[in-house]
Amino acid sequence: MSSTGPIGIFDSGYGGLTVMKEIVKKLPAYDYVYLGDNARAPYGNRSFDTVYRYTLECVKWFFEKGCPLVILACNTASAKALRTIQQNDLEKLNPSNRVLGVIRPTTEIIGQFTKSGSIGILATNGTVQSKSYAMEINKFYPEVNVVQEACPMWVPLVENNEYDKEGADYFIQKNIQNLLAKDGDIDTILLACTHYPLLMDKLVKYAPKNVRIVSQGEIVADSLSRYLANHPELESRCTKTGSRSFYTTDSEEDFENHATTFFGEPVKAIHAEL
Ligand code: DGL
Repeated sequence: MSSTGPIGIFDSGYGGLTVMKEIVKKLPAYDYVYLGDNARAPYGNRSFDTVYRYTLECVKWFFEKGCPLVILACNTASAKALRTIQQNDLEKLNPSNRVLGVIRPTTEIIGQFTKSGSIGILATNGTVQSKSYAMEINKFYPEVNVVQEACPMWVPLVENNEYDKEGADYFIQKNIQNLLAKDGDIDTILLACTHYPLLMDKLVKYAPKNVRIVSQGEIVADSLSRYLANHPELESRCTKTGSRSFYTTDSEEDFENHATTFFGEPVKAIHAEL
């Protein structure tokens, strides 16, 4: 039951590679296995039930690979599936393993970034509808006003290599304006989707200069580092030979073609059967 193995990093597709990039930078000694459920991505517009069912299948796949710890590097999966997996499934699957998400580490510290007390969240439809960010931020920072804006066009723009082209400007400008119209005091915008860091240059162009734009990768990596230090029983089960492997439920070739954009270096992909 208490296997040793790599740390699993999960995403609906390629986006989690932006989080993995920061985790590997911060904690290079560990072994990592990445799984992108590209065959069923995007998750952003899918129902709670579907996201839960897909994510659970992927968590089981990681556990079969021997991963003692799985990070759901996908905001939509963290918002819609993590709690049920932690509360209902882990006990039956392997009570000594752990599954963590990206929302808690982010919401724990994001309140420290705002001076005005207003934070804007940009995310997929699914993450916005779940209200997870607003609820979690207000648990840690009850006085902070959290407003959200769903940006359903941003993931397709990034996945179709339009993220640095002119077409992207229209949607970025529009969503930022919509967000700021909901609360003019926003001084911190959180990119609560794995794909959005790739739009950073354009976001900086269209957001007011006094607004800080925060992406999650480094926050999640710092939090994982602290988590491993505080959980030696789990940390000792995470193997450390510096290996990285990348699996996709869809075409290896497509994954390899996109991965460099998200991960910053070329990767070799393997097809995963769930
Ligand atoms: N990885 C997803 C997220 O962070 C974005 C892509 C999708 O919709 O599947 O919410």
